[in-house]
Amino acid sequence: MNEVFPASDLLNGGERFHVLAPPARLAVFGDPIEQSKSPLFQNAALRASGIDAQYIRLHVAPAELNASLKALPAAGFLGANLTYPHKTAALASLDAIDPAAKAIGAVNTVAIENGKLTGFNTDGAGFIRAIREEFFVDVRDLRVMVLGAGGGAGRAIAVQCAIEGCERLVLVNRSVEKAVSLAQELAPYFRSDRLIGPSERLAAIQHDSAALRAELEHVDLLVNATSVGMKRSDPALIPQAHLTPNLMVYDAVYAGGKTRLVEDAEHAGARAANGLSMLLHQGALAFEIWFNRPAPLAAMRAALPGA
Ligand code: ATR
Repeated sequence: MNEVFPASDLLNGGERFHVLAPPARLAVFGDPIEQSKSPLFQNAALRASGIDAQYIRLHVAPAELNASLKALPAAGFLGANLTYPHKTAALASLDAIDPAAKAIGAVNTVAIENGKLTGFNTDGAGFIRAIREEFFVDVRDLRVMVLGAGGGAGRAIAVQCAIEGCERLVLVNRSVEKAVSLAQELAPYFRSDRLIGPSERLAAIQHDSAALRAELEHVDLLVNATSVGMKRSDPALIPQAHLTPNLMVYDAVYAGGKTRLVEDAEHAGARAANGLSMLLHQGALAFEIWFNRPAPLAAMRAALPGA
């Protein structure tokens, strides 16, 4: 059941959460929020760890975000996750921000200690873990292309790749100016004499067929961070003929089963995976921040259909 609580329950002191069994001490804020899968695997993690707390969905409108965050400590919460549309707006309401979250410019995890709120971003680090799990490689050793680098998910992935020191980063966006401005921001991460042949370590290109094909010759990992592929009727994001067997393809989209991009990549003989592993690992990293212990990954995975 996708139960959703209104922000008013938190703003009124959180009395309603204390009488739940187990009491609600973690929440995901969003607008809309009923679609969030996080309670599935976070509650499995809490049960597997013997922690007497539950994780709930809270419907928080943009106008309620600041007050809702500030109300968390007094209501007995340990932390929260933030999803659309709150990840950037929340920066202004927190007492401290972790360096990776600051670089990404977005927060998806809040931890509460001594009444103070600290913001983290586990999307980027979750991506890195997902790639290691799916393809048995470290992003540090890869030439990466990010489609949708101008969006929120693309930015988190691209910034984290830069922080990790990936070999090469190609930022792709339909409106190319967003990719160019992100490349300017990330340039300091790529000033080194690592020798990788004729291609630039950092590039920004328009999402068009010819530019994609030329750059894909110098890429190991192709990442879709656009929302294209969530619906089965969505057009192909990239021509099938551009996909080659040497590529690893990671589709951050995880809508029901294989996405078109994953299918196209597999037909081309490439290794491919969808975004469920990133969803799982961003959640596992949040759990580790809240409880300072390894997340029970097997229990979390078992609670996430398809993972
Ligand atoms: P979010 O912030 O939640 O990731 P978003 O801001 O809507 O979502 O970003 C979606 C990303 O997908 C953007 O990079 C967008 O490109 P633009 O910046 O040019 O809008 C990209 N995107 C959306 N639809 C696309 C399409 N049909 N083809 C290519 N890129 C697309």
